[in-house]
Amino acid sequence: MESNHNNLIAAISTQVEAAMTGEGSGHDWQHVERVVKLARFIATQEGADLSIVTLAALLHDIADHKFHNGDREIGPRMAKEMILAAGGDDATAGQVADIIERISFSGSGGKKNMESLEGMCVQDADRLDAMGAIGVGRAFAYGGAKSRLLFDVMSRESTLAHFDDKLLRLYDLLNTKAAKQIGKKRHQFLQDYQQQFLAEWNGNDYGNDSTTI
Ligand code: ADP
Ligand code: NI
Repeated sequence: MESNHNNLIAAISTQVEAAMTGEGSGHDWQHVERVVKLARFIATQEGADLSIVTLAALLHDIADHKFHNGDREIGPRMAKEMILAAGGDDATAGQVADIIERISFSGSGGKKNMESLEGMCVQDADRLDAMGAIGVGRAFAYGGAKSRLLFDVMSRESTLAHFDDKLLRLYDLLNTKAAKQIGKKRHQFLQDYQQQFLAEWNGNDYGNDSTTI
């Protein structure tokens, strides 16, 4: 059944925008806007409920546990409270909270599989936004905020290390066919970028063969 929640979506959207504008952690409102757009496109292709997808995409980063002392309950709880306060029903609030809980868990340790099609669309959109040219931009913005080096041959702490650690693994994790289609080019771009970065770093693009200054 396709639910129609236009007023609810408008109210939640305004609240999330106010809460997330200017967030410097890579979880800014612009990221949320991209994820909403992408998740809705994927949802249309896959036949998922657009209202649930839109609400979950809007609220998916409302309270990242990494910024709340590892509290994984706060995101789903806030999402539920906001939806109920804005006049949404229990079923809608419950479905959205469940998606947000599973998105948060899948990133780390205690894995909980995404079970609803709506959740898969939002998770795919979130992952796609960490890939491609925007994914590269977000990774270096995050690294800059953490004062990380671009690259360090001696350590796994650089931003370039995040490519192997996470970004290049995302394509295989995509749930839906629609996301795989979009992700193919974004994944290829990440691979090409990494290769070009290392070629420049090592001076291979101008034929340098000396390793010392
Ligand atoms: P999400 O939970 O939305 O997938 P994260 O909180 O893991 O996102 O990361 C937000 C953004 O910051 C992503 O684009 C991600 O690639 C980037 N990021 C996260 N950790 C690192 C890191 N160690 N180095 C560089 N970028 C990172
Ligand atoms: Ni996100």
